[in-house]
Parts: sequence; structure tokens; C-alpha cells
Amino acid sequence: ILSFFTPKSLLGKRVLITAGPTSEPIDPVRVLTNRSSGKTGYAIALAAKQAGAEVSLISGPTALPCPYGVNRVQVQTAQQMFDQVMLVAKHSDVFISVAAVADWHVVNAQTNKIKKTEQASDAPLLEFAANPDILATVAALPQGPWCVGFAAETENLSQYAHEKRVRKNIPMLIGNLAHEVMDTDHTTVAIFDEQGEHALPSGNKAQVAELIVQAIADRLPTP
Ligand code: CTP
Ligand code: CA
Repeated sequence: ILSFFTPKSLLGKRVLITAGPTSEPIDPVRVLTNRSSGKTGYAIALAAKQAGAEVSLISGPTALPCPYGVNRVQVQTAQQMFDQVMLVAKHSDVFISVAAVADWHVVNAQTNKIKKTEQASDAPLLEFAANPDILATVAALPQGPWCVGFAAETENLSQYAHEKRVRKNIPMLIGNLAHEVMDTDHTTVAIFDEQGEHALPSGNKAQVAELIVQAIADRLPTP
């Protein structure tokens, strides 16, 4: 009800969001994944919807319900997330890459369950290959959407986030310290853009999501 009276800062914008982890199979019963609940990405999807956007959410496995009014596609692997994002990215005005995408997948994944043997030395050896970088690929699209990246770091946040934004060639990146935001509903983030670093007030993930959506709307180039 309240949102009815607030100005719609993303009215008519098509916003594409990735959220959650990806899940890379080792065999049919085992996976490699990243630690991500999906809460921040889902909160941003809802905040963008409430700001008037048409929202597509490409989500890795999470326990969260689809935010009201959001168009969600569920995927498992980074490659599946990449494929779904590429279908929608060209038709999007904004891409917010919140997902904790696995950097590698297992090349020698097995189609049947790997069995234990008596010999401890028989532990399987996993072989990895790089996954596509979804955000960097979308950022390089001609006439692609305005891109926002995320970075969860464990140290040197200011330096790493700044370098990541420049390396991925994106106008805005949201940085946080992994240990401050994981397994909690509370979050503290900073915005990195061409002007430098801007701290946002801490809050629960819904409150911070609204601030992030507002910051995006403020920076979006006017057509
Ligand atoms: N990202 C992506 N596709 C990948 C890896 C990352 O789209 N294969 C996106 C994330 O959603 C995030 C941003 O890129 O918005 C930064 O992810 P991060 O893992 O912090 O950066 P990397 O470039 O993978 O560097 P590293 O993991 O070595 O810190
Ligand atoms: Ca990574």
C-alpha cells in the first residue's frame, strides 16, 4: 500500500537480476556450490519491482519464494545461468549481477554416483575448467544494459572492489565484506563508481536493497 504513494524511480525499466549461488555437479548426488542464501538478490528484485520496474530474476538454488510480481527462472549451473541471462540481457535496461557464480565447474563429473572404496587413497580427483564470466560478457555487449556488479571480499575491500569494477568495465559495483553479510539478515555495503567509494547506512537486507535500487535509479543515464 505504502509503495503506491512513493515515486516510481524505475518506472517502465526492464531490470535483469541474478541471485543465489550456482550448483556444479560432481555426480548425481554431490555438488560444488558457493555460500549464498540469495536474500540480497531477492530483496533487490522486490525493491526494483516496487520502484516500478519489470523484473526478471535468474536464480540459482535457494529456499526463497519468488518475490511478488517478479518473473523468476530457476537454474542450477553457471552455464545455465549464463544461457538464461543471454536470452534476456539484450532486452534489458539494467543488469544487476548479485549471484555468487561458481568460477569453475567439474570437467570429470560422473553420470553415476561415485562409490567409496576401502582404500582412503582412492579419493576421487576433481578436474576443473573455468565458467563463463556472465557479468563481463553482458558488460561487453554492444548496446547492452547498464551493469551493476557485486563483490564479496574477505580483505582489502576498497582496493579489490575498485579494481574489479574497472576490470569488468562497469559503471557501478556494490562491495561488502563476506563475513559481515553471510548467514545474517543484516548487511553493510559500499558503492563503488567513477567518483570513488560511498558507504551506505547498514540495515536489514530489505532496507539496504531499497537504498541500492535508489542509487541505481539516481545514476541511470536519462534516455
Ligand atoms: N560474476 C559473474 N560470472 C562469473 C563470476 C562472477 O557474473 N562467472 C559476477 C558476480 O555476480 C559479481 C561479479 O561478477 O557481480 C564479481 O564476482 P566475483 O566472484 O567477486 O569476481 P571474480 O571476477 O570472479 O573474481 P574473484 O572470485 O577472483 O574475486
Ligand atoms: Ca568469483
